[in-house]
Amino acid sequence: MDDYVDIIVNSENICVLTGAGISAESGIPTFRGVGGMWAKYRPEDLATPEAFAANPRLVWEWYQARREAVSRAVPNAGHMALAGWEKLARSFVLVTQNVDGLHLAAGSRHVLELHGNIRRNRCTACGRESTMDEITFDGRPPVCGCGGMLRPGVVWFGEALPEAVLNEAFAAARECDLFLTVGTSAVVYPAAALPRLALDRGVPVIEVNTEETPFSAGATCSLRGPAGEILPQLVAAYASAPHRSRQTS
Ligand code: OAD
Repeated sequence: MDDYVDIIVNSENICVLTGAGISAESGIPTFRGVGGMWAKYRPEDLATPEAFAANPRLVWEWYQARREAVSRAVPNAGHMALAGWEKLARSFVLVTQNVDGLHLAAGSRHVLELHGNIRRNRCTACGRESTMDEITFDGRPPVCGCGGMLRPGVVWFGEALPEAVLNEAFAAARECDLFLTVGTSAVVYPAAALPRLALDRGVPVIEVNTEETPFSAGATCSLRGPAGEILPQLVAAYASAPHRSRQTS
């Protein structure tokens, strides 16, 4: 990591892409790999518009179980480090594929939730959004005030990502001078295009991951280990750079 400290501390416009790995230390399972959700379940049975149309009850039951796990989870040292980093940098955009809301819970402010948020619902008829506290799930898919069926407020496979959020994420990847990709297998597009775009611009891209990923070989630097251990070290180095401690003292 020492070789890259200069690059990190001299960056002012930072863009970070996170995936399920950053929440693993909060007890939320990842999708791929050993113990991942897609080893136990088929995404096409649970996370597509077709699956919901065919069996809304099954999809609701699966999402309710995930919501319960998410509502028990608290942000870990990795989430907290990113929230702290945002306060130090001139510009800091946190793009996440996670739907667990833990970055917001940690205090991050400029968060782009590319795949939505599992704590919200959306009406399939009128589009009204509601929170999970506003509904009771008794085994039957809940219904909106307008009579339409509610669905989890997440993006499923085969669906478009929210356009304004996606545009803002691409703008951040086009404008940053440092990009970090944290706890993501970097295989699901369009999110996976963001670090590649930064690399194509010649911007350093640092990967933080416990394992090698399809992106690792192309990354400027791959830091192997848990995000909850590595990110606090990066932020400490950033905060203690001589020019930065002068600014903040
Ligand atoms: P994945 O499950 O594909 O990848 C998680 C990554 O986190 C893996 O590369 C792990 O090696 C790494 N990892 C695990 N624990 C870690 C830790 N403590 N610190 C750092 N890294 C760790 O999850 P995503 O890349 O987020 O989409 O998956 C992308 C999308 O695919 C998800 O948003 C979801 C999924 O299917 C939809 O549901 C639409």
